[in-house]
Amino acid sequence: MISIKSVSEIDKMRKAGHINALTHRLVAENICDGVTTEELDRLAYEFIKSKGAEPSFLNYGGYPKSICVSVNDVVIHGIPGKQVIKTGDIVSVDIGVYLNGYHSDSAATYPCGTVSEEAKRLIDVTKQSFYEGIKFACEGNRISDISCGVQTYVEQNGFSVVTDYVGHGVGKNLHEDPEVPNYGKAGKGARLYSGMTLAVEPMVNAGTPDVKRLKDGWTVVTADGNLSAHYEHTIAVTKGNPILLTVE
Ligand code: MF3
Ligand code: CO
Repeated sequence: MISIKSVSEIDKMRKAGHINALTHRLVAENICDGVTTEELDRLAYEFIKSKGAEPSFLNYGGYPKSICVSVNDVVIHGIPGKQVIKTGDIVSVDIGVYLNGYHSDSAATYPCGTVSEEAKRLIDVTKQSFYEGIKFACEGNRISDISCGVQTYVEQNGFSVVTDYVGHGVGKNLHEDPEVPNYGKAGKGARLYSGMTLAVEPMVNAGTPDVKRLKDGWTVVTADGNLSAHYEHTIAVTKGNPILLTVE
């Protein structure tokens, strides 16, 4: 069932989303040669708690950390640990913030120092694919209109979209209906209504779309070892342009 949020619910999600965006800024500012992924996790945890909020991912389905930090060929769900980030790495950071009964979910990929031209282009195309997708996120359209917008742009730019994982509704629960795939023909799936809140999250690979999950049960990597990037905001559907809820 897809829930429609009231104006006051969306306002609560915006407050959770604001803290989410501030946490992103803090983590991004601390990405540098030599920092460990668990140090970034600790910074995020402390900051979120200091705002009176909770990290949505901590203990979610047994997930052991507060944020996901996915470096280079890691697509999503990288578990923070002893891994040391190096200049030239690309670092996908995924953050969930829970406040006053509502979740927000947002991800972005950041370069550590100077990265390759291909890495830079992958980051830019992934971010832009989100904006190409949400051009279609207005009342009266359908879910797959967003999906098709993402996929078309990514493939026009020579990259591939991950199909094993998808975006989702978000609100009182981190994962709600409907699924929001990053691929597919337009005109399919649920109709969009004002008040739907969605996490639209293209995961884009430089090589093939194939991924595999490591034995830790979480870490998802590209099958071919090439780079991957991620970009996500929580949005609210309206009759016009969607509202981005995970912004400062
Ligand atoms: N944004 C991701 C998702 O929607 C993050 C989930 S990590 C988890 O699936 F630990 F919470 F599962
Ligand atoms: Co998500």
